Amino acid sequence: MKNKFYITTPLYYVNSNPHIGHSYTNIAADALARFHRQKGDEVYFLTGTDEHGQKIAKAASDAGLEEKAFTDTMVSIFIELWKSLDVSYDDFIRTTDERHITAVKKVLTTLYQNNDIYLHTYEGWYCTPCETFWADMQVEGNVCPDCKREVERIREENYFFRLSKYQEWLIMYFRSHPNFIKPLPRYNEALSFLTNNKLTDLCISRPRSRLKWGIEIPFAPSHVTYVWFDALINYISAVGFGCDELKFKKYWPVDVHLIGKDILRQHAIYWPIMLKALGLEMPKMIFAHGWWMVGQDKMSKSRGNVVDPLKLVKEYGVDVYRYFLLREVPFGLDGNFSDEAITMRKNSDLANDLGNLVHRTATMVEKYFSGSVPEKGALKANALKADSDNLSNEVSKALEAVDFSQALDAIWSVINQANKFIEETKPWNLLKEGKTEDLDSFMLLLVEVIRNVSCVLVYFIPESAKNISSQFASRIIRKGIPLFPRLETK
Ligand code: MSP
Repeated sequence: MKNKFYITTPLYYVNSNPHIGHSYTNIAADALARFHRQKGDEVYFLTGTDEHGQKIAKAASDAGLEEKAFTDTMVSIFIELWKSLDVSYDDFIRTTDERHITAVKKVLTTLYQNNDIYLHTYEGWYCTPCETFWADMQVEGNVCPDCKREVERIREENYFFRLSKYQEWLIMYFRSHPNFIKPLPRYNEALSFLTNNKLTDLCISRPRSRLKWGIEIPFAPSHVTYVWFDALINYISAVGFGCDELKFKKYWPVDVHLIGKDILRQHAIYWPIMLKALGLEMPKMIFAHGWWMVGQDKMSKSRGNVVDPLKLVKEYGVDVYRYFLLREVPFGLDGNFSDEAITMRKNSDLANDLGNLVHRTATMVEKYFSGSVPEKGALKANALKADSDNLSNEVSKALEAVDFSQALDAIWSVINQANKFIEETKPWNLLKEGKTEDLDSFMLLLVEVIRNVSCVLVYFIPESAKNISSQFASRIIRKGIPLFPRLETK
């Protein structure tokens, strides 16, 4: 039987256009999905959009549109971007989908019936942009502790979810599952938050008088669902929770929730408790990656420093962009975005190392063998051959551990060894000296190395890898155009 591999990204808010940060998670998820497909797993790669709540309602009204019309337009921008970035998702869920709304209502009803949701009058502070409640002791000077924008005083009747009831259980769960949250600093952060704070119950409704744009609470039509409580449920609604038991059984629990570290608390604390209260299994792994920064600041719409991925794709090409994001920083750490850095990666790793290897090899097959790879040659055991044969194993190991830089390091180590091998072997001399057998085996090894390299590169830079594979697929080498024309350094 085939293994299944269920991977998710966050659902992106559609109040503004996607930027590098959003594309980062989706490209990373795409690389993992491609790897698992190649491995033979039955992959379910889910992404989508988060469309309810105050923030979206405000963006719609600013645009002079009804909420649904506005989100429809925005969703198409996200879908177009994923297409341009070769993001091979299997399902795109919108929180306005009927299947999702049905699942959210089912969750609410179940938790209410089990007394995990209760009505309570709340008084405190509210940050509208973050859609977050803050207690008196958390707020200083009327500003939100998170985003530093002004908070308002509110007093209202709302529904609350009993997070506090499950705090001890969650601490125990963390302790017995050290790989639940990755990487380790994020696991420690979530666990220390849990052990150092008393969890307060989560307000999961908003009165309709204040917010209309949300999913109606089935047992209280005067209220709509808090956007985070609504959105997290997508991870089960997409795979059939409450409507397709077979599908749900097949894919749940999820193998990897890929998120940015900004939304760790919701995923590492609220979500597991919601699942526990529903009697469902825990995610196998939640991986929180770092932030793309511009200088000292996180790239974000509210800071006004976002870079448009489409602009970069136009300028550098989709594969350069994908490669840069996954190679530049170890997954989990923060990275700094700059044009200089991406130009460097393109010129040195892609044009110089990979591009040259492919181009030189094809040229030599043409020159020394009239374009057809020698049929046989005694392949001598050497370090390059050993590493090339083992490359697929190395890359698999790294990707099972969600370590893109390690996977790419392994690939580039083979590429660099191959370039060195050409320089050291000096095939032009072999020819001059009439060592044809050596020249045959030299050529065979290089072609084999390139085939192995392109097999694993396809997860990261699918278009270029397919281009390389098609040049080297048969005995007759068809030389293509140079893969990554060098850019002038800015
Ligand atoms: N809608 C919520 C998520 C709900 S999930 C059930 C949300 N959306 S968001 O549009 O703000 O996107 C958040 C995600 O975008 C982050 O978790 C991360 O995956 C990505 N990024 C946004 N800015 C980022 C950076 N500057 N750097 C890296 N990724 C960041 O939160």
